[in-house]
Amino acid sequence: MGQFRMTDLRNIARRLVAGGKGLLAMDESNATCNKRFAAAGIPQTEDARRAYRELIITAPGLSETISGTILYDETIRQTKKDGTPFVKILVDSGIIPGVKVDVGAKDLAGHPGEKITEGLDGLRERLKGYFQMGARFAKWRAVIAVGDGIPSRGCIEANAQALARYASLCQETGLVPIVEPEVLMDGEHTQRQCRVVTEEVLHNVFDQLYAQRVMLEGMILKPNMVLAGLTCHRQDNLDEVAEATVECLLRVVPASVPGIAFLSGGQSGELASARLNAMNLLARSPKFRLPWALAFSFARAIQHPALDVWHGQDANVPAAQQALLHRAKCNLAALNGEYSAAMEKT
Ligand code: 13P
Repeated sequence: MGQFRMTDLRNIARRLVAGGKGLLAMDESNATCNKRFAAAGIPQTEDARRAYRELIITAPGLSETISGTILYDETIRQTKKDGTPFVKILVDSGIIPGVKVDVGAKDLAGHPGEKITEGLDGLRERLKGYFQMGARFAKWRAVIAVGDGIPSRGCIEANAQALARYASLCQETGLVPIVEPEVLMDGEHTQRQCRVVTEEVLHNVFDQLYAQRVMLEGMILKPNMVLAGLTCHRQDNLDEVAEATVECLLRVVPASVPGIAFLSGGQSGELASARLNAMNLLARSPKFRLPWALAFSFARAIQHPALDVWHGQDANVPAAQQALLHRAKCNLAALNGEYSAAMEKT
C-alpha cells in the first residue's frame, strides 16, 4: 500500500468517526428491507425501496449529524426520482458513501445454530467497482449467536478470518473497512456471558486483522454493546452497560483504531441513545481515558420511527424525515454526553 493510500484511509476513517458525528446504516438487503416494509404495511417493491432511501438521503440537514451512510448494492446504483444519483447527493452534501459488501450469513457446516458470513469470492473486483461508483468505505457483518455451548471456536475463528481477509482487500482498494462482529442479543444469556463472548470474539478478530496486515489506523470497529440477552430476567442499567462495554473494549481494541461505531442490534432508539450517552460520559470521567472515539452506526435505532411515520405515502415524507433527523440529533447529543430523556419530548 502506498503512502498516499495510507493517508487517505486514515483521513476517511477519522472523518467518519472522530469528527463528532456518526454513521447511518441503510444497507438492509432487499430481503431484510422487504421484511421491515411488510411489518409496516408498505409494498415490497424496488420502487418503494428506492423512494424510502430517497427520503433518508434527502432529509434536510442530515449532514449536520451524519458523516457517512452505508448503502446496499441496489441502493448505491439508484437515483432520486429526478435522476440524480444517490451517491452524488451524498457527496455534494458532505456525507461519505459506503457500501455493505458481504453477501449474508449462512449456516456454518457442522455447527448447528451458528453462521458464517460469505462474500469473499470475487470480492477484489466488486470492491474496485464500488470504489469507482464513489464508495470510500465498506462494511462486512459477522453474526455470533450466544446459547447452550455456543459460540464455538470454529464459528469465532472462521468469522474472524473472513472479516480480516475482507478488511485487507478493502484497504488494498482504498476503502476503509468497517469491521462488524455482532454478538447477537437474542437469547436468555446474561450480560456477563455477552461480555465474555464479546471479548473472545474481538481478541480473535484483532489477531486475524494483524495476521492479514490490516492497518488499524485505517479501519473502524462496529461492535455490539455488552448487553444481557433480550429474554434474560435481569436487564442491566445504563451505568452497568456503559462500564461493561467500555471495560471490555479497553481490553481488546488497540489504541491505534480511530473509532468504534456501535450497531444498535434491535435496541429501541431511546435505549441506544441513552447507552451511547452513558458511555461517552464515562469517557469523560477521570477513571477512563479512551484512545478512540465512541460513535454510532445505527440502522434500526435511527430509522424505525421514520419508517412507521412514512407508511409508503408521499404526503408523509416531511414528517418521516423529521422523525429520522430527531433520532440522528439524539445520537449526536449522546456523542457529547448531552442526551437526556427530555430530548424525546421535543
Ligand atoms: P442495527 O443498528 O439495526 O443493528 O444495524 C446495524 C447494521 O449495520 C447491521 O449490520
